[in-house]
Amino acid sequence: MARILELRRSIRILADYGNKLQGKSVVRRWTDISLMNSQMNLRGWGRALDNGPPGSEGSPRPLIIRRDRTGPRLQLLTAKGFEWVEAEIPIRELPPELEGFRLLHVSDLHVRKAWDPAYDEFIARVEANPPDFIAYTGDFVDNKHDSRRAMPVVRRLVNSLKSRLGTAAILGNHDGDLLGPPLASLNLTLLDHRRLALRSGSATLEFIGIAGVDRKDFDPGFLRSLGRKEPGTVRVVLSHFPDLVRRSRFLEADLFLAGHTHGGQICLPTGIPIIRHDSLPAKLISGIHWVYDTWLVANPGLGFSGLPIRLFCPAQVIEIRLRKAGGS
Ligand SMILES: [Fe+2]
Repeated sequence: MARILELRRSIRILADYGNKLQGKSVVRRWTDISLMNSQMNLRGWGRALDNGPPGSEGSPRPLIIRRDRTGPRLQLLTAKGFEWVEAEIPIRELPPELEGFRLLHVSDLHVRKAWDPAYDEFIARVEANPPDFIAYTGDFVDNKHDSRRAMPVVRRLVNSLKSRLGTAAILGNHDGDLLGPPLASLNLTLLDHRRLALRSGSATLEFIGIAGVDRKDFDPGFLRSLGRKEPGTVRVVLSHFPDLVRRSRFLEADLFLAGHTHGGQICLPTGIPIIRHDSLPAKLISGIHWVYDTWLVANPGLGFSGLPIRLFCPAQVIEIRLRKAGGS
């Protein structure tokens, strides 16, 4: 027990030190991006449902989560053995064209200078069955102060992971604002303070990026300027910090994708984290939860923050399939 407390204290000191070194973030401009997508064939609309968690209306379509394997209890220096989690998430008023839409959520790669052999399996699985879209929720690199040695690995990995319709990303607190331009040159659309809409006719799949370098970047003025969600729109918010789900409630997001916590990274055998880096209750530190009228997807991520160890908290990639709430 004394060793655990000592380890917890050391990690907290390291985290505090990192936070102090974090520079002030700069104000970023925002824009809207619209992509017309003829591959989303519009066929009509789902019916409106009463308020309440989707799938709780006596629906045969509740949240379903499967994983391909149980990840290792200990991961050291590599994410090998990472879990591939498949989640069928019921969405109210899901346009039929988005039924079964596959969204791959990747977070917290924390890339260092060396290629992780786990990436080879990751790329092979994506190549074998490409998702419709890929969303990253920050922390591409581990070193907050110098990403140059990690960028060749980030470039190779990101450009190797291809989807049918595109890729969007936001920065995390390890990335820093300076990583924005090199990331934007890769096979992705950087969404910090931006909105991306995939449209086909009147059907829209909307991605909104909350700036992720610092919680202080949260800009309710920008987010409110986006307006209420239009009919026929599925709204997906990307936020590095899960606890910003509270302050973003007015967005009426269908999905709130987040990372940052690493699921605790070092947990007790019961899976309870030793430390947290988020103000949400411990039970929300990882997994998929209906909170604040949205589905919060708290992705434990693939990488390691600081110490290259994951204990009782295996790395994960999350594949989301959109399902119409109340469907059969
Ligand atoms: Fe992280």
